[in-house]
Amino acid sequence: MTVKSEILHILEINRGNSISGQDIAETLSVSRTAIWKAVKSLREEGYVIDAASNKGYSLSFTSDVLSAGGIRTFLNSEYKDIPITVYKSLTSTNTEAKKASMENAEHGTVIISEEQTKGRGRFGRDFFSPPQSGIYMSIILKPNLNITNSVLITTAAAVAVCLAIDKFSDVKPKIKWVNDIYIGNKKVCGILTEAVTDFESGMVDSIVVGIGLNVKTKEDEFPNELCEIAGSIFQPNDDFNMRNELSAEIINNILSICNVLEDKKFLKIYKERSMIFGKNILYKENNEWIEVYAKDIDEYGALIIIQKNGQQAVLKSGEVSIRKISPNN
Ligand code: BTN
Repeated sequence: MTVKSEILHILEINRGNSISGQDIAETLSVSRTAIWKAVKSLREEGYVIDAASNKGYSLSFTSDVLSAGGIRTFLNSEYKDIPITVYKSLTSTNTEAKKASMENAEHGTVIISEEQTKGRGRFGRDFFSPPQSGIYMSIILKPNLNITNSVLITTAAAVAVCLAIDKFSDVKPKIKWVNDIYIGNKKVCGILTEAVTDFESGMVDSIVVGIGLNVKTKEDEFPNELCEIAGSIFQPNDDFNMRNELSAEIINNILSICNVLEDKKFLKIYKERSMIFGKNILYKENNEWIEVYAKDIDEYGALIIIQKNGQQAVLKSGEVSIRKISPNN
């Protein structure tokens, strides 16, 4: 750890409380000048660090800069050493993570960015990723799974995000199969899972789970075409400034569920959070929306539907909608 990240760690765990420069210098066995320089540099990076004479430095509650040190502070002890890289701007954290996994990045590696200039969604769509208001993160997983069960990672990630949000808010997010997360009728999070296959063996080598979360994006910030459908977890008057802590909680949850993925216990939570089971929904097939009844998911995360002709079918992938349903249903 650098002096700067150690100071950040101390300030982060004491957020709002002042710690004297002398105390920090003694704890880290460095000079007070070194502390002063590091604080100056942190401020230049955007951290709001208050300094009061005779009291010392404190990280303001208004400070909300994503950083590896800030995230690491809140990771469970068993994940404290995972590689985390935070970028100011990237085209897409998933693209970067796929590159990293081809260069043998280890299980649990996290790539995160303040903004994405070409954030990618499912079905080739763009994912709106403005700076300072969201969490755009990809986690590289190398689970010991066969390919059938690796599909479960997508559902596990949705559960991990919902449980993380629960820790900071009582909004009770819901999941739209497969892995869109909604608060009310607004989508606040999308998940794009991509497999990286070994060129020689053709086997899945790692799985990149990309999570895009609108944490506090203002309503009028969304482009027109998203205004009606996208929302944020927090509103401006919630004054939420804990994106590092929220990111860490998502990572903790994903890595923990991934460790016991095959016991499939998280599927129970997934079902409780589902916003489509027991409802008529629309399913996109060959570019056409077809009305079906959403019954359940199976043990592999596939959607069980009842078609209009009464026949049951299992959908392994695809897109469903709860919006375009006719009003008399
Ligand atoms: C969707 O809603 O269709 C999925 C959106 C996934 C967006 C995330 S943001 C982090 C990661 N990087 C990307 O380019 N996409 C995913």
